[in-house]
Amino acid sequence: ECVPAVRSPEEGGPDAAVVIDVLRATTTIAWSLQNGAEAIEAFADLAALDAAAAAWPAARTLRAGERGGERVEGYDLGNSPLAVTPERVKGKRIFMSTTNGTRSLQAVRTVPLLLTACLPNRTAVARRLVQGGAERVWIVGSGWEGDYSLEDSLAAGAVASAATELAVAPHRGVSFGNDEMLAALALWQQWHTDTETCLRAASHGQRLIGLGDHDSDFRCCSAVDTLTLVPVQTEPGVLKAA
Ligand code: MLT
Repeated sequence: ECVPAVRSPEEGGPDAAVVIDVLRATTTIAWSLQNGAEAIEAFADLAALDAAAAAWPAARTLRAGERGGERVEGYDLGNSPLAVTPERVKGKRIFMSTTNGTRSLQAVRTVPLLLTACLPNRTAVARRLVQGGAERVWIVGSGWEGDYSLEDSLAAGAVASAATELAVAPHRGVSFGNDEMLAALALWQQWHTDTETCLRAASHGQRLIGLGDHDSDFRCCSAVDTLTLVPVQTEPGVLKAA
């Protein structure tokens, strides 16, 4: 598991969680909804995805599967935010499973408010948290198979930095619970003017470069504040635009 067992807010658990997978699941989720997808339904494993997709009207169904950075054979989509064009996704429910991002979502699906963030919507997510009065927020970087990832920490710092700037009213403020969050903020300070270089330098960035031309994906995933849409979990595993 990438996160500890989730306790309820009454037991000291979080009242909100923000899942991040900059390269590329949460960027693709945000752009899918922006381009008119009805919802994203996220799955940790492909068998469960296939079963759920089979039960949905075929004309309104897309299956998106990614493993190791590549599209799963036979699936309609892989995990590129460039592939989820309005022509492709409008009105469709996307049943999605990726190596890490959708597994993180599964791990925190019982948190009362669950959002996903990427660099394009980082200020929109921060605004939602601050305006909604969330008090204890987990920012969950998906990483790679249990390991740390640079780009997810960068985006965690980006969200936290925006939340700090927005929480300016008296008696409101943002405090950072641990050293990982402070390190993420330092990373954001270091790279905020050149996010694409950071994404390319990261180990998963290198993996994508090794798999072929991903220039457009890097540009899309590293763009900051180009979206105001926030994906929100409306029922377990289902994300919609809000
Ligand atoms: C993941 O979930 O690990 C990713 O989004 C991988 C990718 O498609 O780049």
